[in-house]
Amino acid sequence: MPSIDKIKTILVIGAGTMGHGITELAAIAGYKVYIADINSEIIKSGLEKIKWSLSKLHEKGSLKESVDSVMSRIIPVVNTDSQGNFTKDFENAIKDSDMFIEAIPERLDLKQNLFKFIDKNRKADAIMATNTSSLPITEIAAATSAPELVVGMHFFNPPPLMPLVEIIKGEKTSDETVSVTYQIAKNFGKQPVIVKKDVPGFIANRILARFLNTACWLAYKGFYSTLEIDSAVRYSLNFPMGAFELADYSGIDVFYFVNKAMTERGFKMKHCPLFEQKFNAKELGMKTGKGFYEYPKPGAYVRPQIPKELANKVDPVLLLAPAVNEGAWLLENDVATKEDIDKAVMLGLGWPKGLFEFADDFGIDKINTALKQLKDLLGDQDFEPTKMLKDMESKNELGRKTGKGFYEYKKIEEVSKKTILIKYEKPIAWIVLNRPNRLNAISPDMIKELGEALDELELNDDIRVLIITGAGRAFSAGADVTAFAGITPMQAAIFSKKFQELTLKMEFYAKPIIIAINGYALGGGLELSMSGDIRIASENALLGQPEINLGFIPGAGGTQRLPRLVGRGQSKLLIFTGDNISAKDAYALKLVDKVVPPERLEQEARDLALKISEKPPLALMAAKLAIEQGLESNIWAGLNLEANLFGLLFSTEDVAEGVTAFLEKKKPSFKGK
Ligand code: NAI
Repeated sequence: MPSIDKIKTILVIGAGTMGHGITELAAIAGYKVYIADINSEIIKSGLEKIKWSLSKLHEKGSLKESVDSVMSRIIPVVNTDSQGNFTKDFENAIKDSDMFIEAIPERLDLKQNLFKFIDKNRKADAIMATNTSSLPITEIAAATSAPELVVGMHFFNPPPLMPLVEIIKGEKTSDETVSVTYQIAKNFGKQPVIVKKDVPGFIANRILARFLNTACWLAYKGFYSTLEIDSAVRYSLNFPMGAFELADYSGIDVFYFVNKAMTERGFKMKHCPLFEQKFNAKELGMKTGKGFYEYPKPGAYVRPQIPKELANKVDPVLLLAPAVNEGAWLLENDVATKEDIDKAVMLGLGWPKGLFEFADDFGIDKINTALKQLKDLLGDQDFEPTKMLKDMESKNELGRKTGKGFYEYKKIEEVSKKTILIKYEKPIAWIVLNRPNRLNAISPDMIKELGEALDELELNDDIRVLIITGAGRAFSAGADVTAFAGITPMQAAIFSKKFQELTLKMEFYAKPIIIAINGYALGGGLELSMSGDIRIASENALLGQPEINLGFIPGAGGTQRLPRLVGRGQSKLLIFTGDNISAKDAYALKLVDKVVPPERLEQEARDLALKISEKPPLALMAAKLAIEQGLESNIWAGLNLEANLFGLLFSTEDVAEGVTAFLEKKKPSFKGK
């Protein structure tokens, strides 16, 4: 039976793109490694690349040993002679090894021939792993006398940098083989996931194929341009690259071949013709100088320009729904756990959150509706939701909004005050201005309750970021004018001062405050929003300072904060005319920082708040203070404050955590200490 303790020597076969990277990982992890290829030039080139990569790691300080000492554990072996027969050296290397990792070209006959030879000469319990991307592990294993020792070990390119490894169980692979291979991947510093069944494309490539194919069909049929889709992928889904941008970057031929191999092995997908057209026209992307985008010359990478404002044209649920359906299929067929599937898309594809996390945030009902919509748009394709998705909808397990979807969510605790609602969704909290039938007009009571809520949430250690928004169709249409009837100038000045104290409290607040402007933000509503740190507005929001129409002026900081955000002229234009402006115009003036469709406002605000909530609280507080105070003093005072805060932060546990996590390539966990 294989065991991790018995593995001291590893033989990597193939010194190409993947093989040399895997060899490097094994050597860094302390194993003695043979690296085999068909001739010494290829091996030499592989070794040079390893040496270069190790020296980079050494420069960065992330290699504990010297480059030479790691290199000394790598032994080159030429494995075929001039007639193409395996060499005696190779046979000896096999006899000396405890594990094999094959990374030769993607051809079943080549791989089977190699595995047969290894099998004949190996030690009794030696594990035989293959890095194949698309061939069934079971078929490669069939060439050996011990299929229980054959396993898939699918690295991502480049292996030293990409954290994901898919460990694939063939039909006969033993649990011990899987668990030892998993351990080896961990020892290589990787984050493995287990693929319990030998399905074409395993996890990451299946999900990626659905995603790219959907994007491609929508463009091919002319519903959206490739630029609109890529803008939505980059800026709404926050993926590292657009769909077509990624295809160009990796090579359109790569996806063409991988998708073809997958469907030939039983993966049901109707190929989008656009990829084939590009493939036939030899427009393969960056490497040929042209794909969906153009590049200055073949192989010269320049990041395509993708306008941000196109993002709202495409509903991102439409792009992701088939991928979610695929994920649900993998779960239903017990191919992998939901945690592993989410890990695979984040670590292998660079998605900002897991597939099922996306699904739960969008809502399972929305996913099913999008699948139906795709069926209507694209016709005879398999967009039928899996049983799992249908069942979830009928059981009202719709995701975050119902407290249960693929994951369970803590029930959101709500505290209702007279004029506001506080929702605790740890680590974030929402304050909802809650007088919807009065368009959330700001009354003295609301000012008092807002102040108290801010105080309580500031001291609440479970809460890292606040979002302020409005109930109904307004953020807030302004101060409650009915409260002004018959008040004396003195009382009006006191109201103004109280409101100003609230806005100052927000500016000096120890935690970030995001303002989600869901509709009217007029007068006091706009003034309240201007004291928050980041403003996200819904496309249908209207903003303005209409006080002049009533005979007075903004009294909660409007004459001070508006010019600081939009400048003298524009603020006078707004205050003198009392006119409202649209969210889009407010964005152009930098009065709001982002504009999103109404149905996405809540999620965008939540995503941003959750992202910020993972950052170190003390550093966030320091950054906010330095920015706010610096802007209100001169640059020397500001720089001085920055230097002092910078220095102070180095005495915190969070800095130690941040630096350690960075060096160990793991996610930091900040405590605010
Ligand atoms: P590659 O073409 O860069 O390297 C393959 C190497 O194997 C070449 O150096 C070749 O000379 C050598 N070779 C051919 N026959 C051999 C034999 N009988 N014995 C020893 N060496 C032999 O290919 P690449 O990209 O490294 O792919 C290797 C495997 O990894 C394939 O199965 C591929 O599907 C898989 N893979 C590739 C990824 C990629 O992004 N390139 C990602 C994940 C898996």
